[in-house]
Amino acid sequence: MSKYIIKGGNKLKGEVSIQGSKNAALPILAAAVMNQSESIIENVPDIHDVDIMIKILKSIGCYVKKEGNTLTIDSSKITSVEVSEALVREMRSSIILLGALLSKYKETRFSYPGGCDIGLRPIDIHLKGLRKLGAQIEESHGFIHCKAAQLYGSNINLDFPSVGATENIMLAASLADGETIIRNAAKEPEIIDLQNFINAMGGKVTGAGTGMICIKGVTKLNPVKYRVTSDRIVAGTYIVASCITRGNIVLKNIAMDDMRTVCSKLTETGCGIVSYNSGEIQINPPEIIQPIESLITQPYPGFPTDMQAQVLALLTVADGMSIVNETIFESRYKHVPELIRMGAKIKIEGRIAIIQGVKRLMGAEVDSTDLRGGAALVMAGLCAEGDTTVNHIFHIDRGYEKLDYNLRNLGAIIQRQED
Ligand code: EPZ
Repeated sequence: MSKYIIKGGNKLKGEVSIQGSKNAALPILAAAVMNQSESIIENVPDIHDVDIMIKILKSIGCYVKKEGNTLTIDSSKITSVEVSEALVREMRSSIILLGALLSKYKETRFSYPGGCDIGLRPIDIHLKGLRKLGAQIEESHGFIHCKAAQLYGSNINLDFPSVGATENIMLAASLADGETIIRNAAKEPEIIDLQNFINAMGGKVTGAGTGMICIKGVTKLNPVKYRVTSDRIVAGTYIVASCITRGNIVLKNIAMDDMRTVCSKLTETGCGIVSYNSGEIQINPPEIIQPIESLITQPYPGFPTDMQAQVLALLTVADGMSIVNETIFESRYKHVPELIRMGAKIKIEGRIAIIQGVKRLMGAEVDSTDLRGGAALVMAGLCAEGDTTVNHIFHIDRGYEKLDYNLRNLGAIIQRQED
């Protein structure tokens, strides 16, 4: 099992270029099965979740070539519409292929994506939306079998602005007969990127980023060349790394527009964040990290749940008490016991975390339990006194490209150790 060994205390300094967005790239790679031809997709992050998605695309007959951060996908010879149980278990977000395969091939078969470390992750909203489009969906023996002679545009109201459900319905509706309106749709920037990708293939989607998305079905989607947007959560993670080490860093290739809520909350800790229209963001750290009275995770444009763990790590060394309310996922505090091992003072009451800041964390051996929780432990290790070992960093590899390399370039003392 690979691990990170971190010696805390160095102030980060310098520049880091932000990778392509994991949560934009995955639905875009899924959508590439819909044009039955070639898609050239640039700025794809070199991360484990993308490697799994490539494995899945190859398993159904796609040809995939990876050249650095550019993927070429040829979906002209799809040989199967079934995604194996092993691959779905490896990455539950492969469920985004459901809408794409159903849309183009009118049939697909998936094993039920299990939960994961942060929650049950049901897909009832996905399936309800696809049924509204005319899909017959059979759920039995742990499998989902979807079929439709034809999909028809429909009016769909989501019970919750689920990101994945919004994306699956957008994909399924893109080749449906007629117009679909999705209300209470997710508004995340990754939804806008998917809309732009579908339209670059010749689709007709409007309204992404608002709560109401309109998809006019077309009969065919075309070859495409597209560049994925930058990863706002990875960018937010480096802002936390800068603040927690009292360092000054500059983020490159990231637009402030997607970061407003995260940056506004982080300025409450006393850090200064200046954006330049050259796609750069300058971080000036706080002398003393101020606590955050109330941090509530919400659907976009609220504070993103994917930044909760990293900011919570920062608040463990704030000068006072902070309160975090994780409203999106029911068990997204698995990083808390590990932070307590490092000397943090945190109490959990249901979805609420109460953090009493301490002067300094102490290095310790800790275990990553999920992607963002693992990143939070790295943040803590960067400022802790002494050495911190972060185990099971395969969780972190799922979403962060070259994390230790980038942090070393910024002056951190961090090494990757393969066991
Ligand atoms: C996406 O997951 C992201 N993953 C997650 O990022 C992110 O945390 C999440 O959106 C929220 O922003 C990708 O984009 C690949 P949801 P998704 O459907 O689509 C409930 C990361 O760290 N729900 O918006 O699965 C669900 O249980 C990952 O990069 C239903 O009840 O999130 C959860 O409580 C983690 N029924 C809430 O909605 C459904 O059918 C939000 O889930 C679907 C969701």
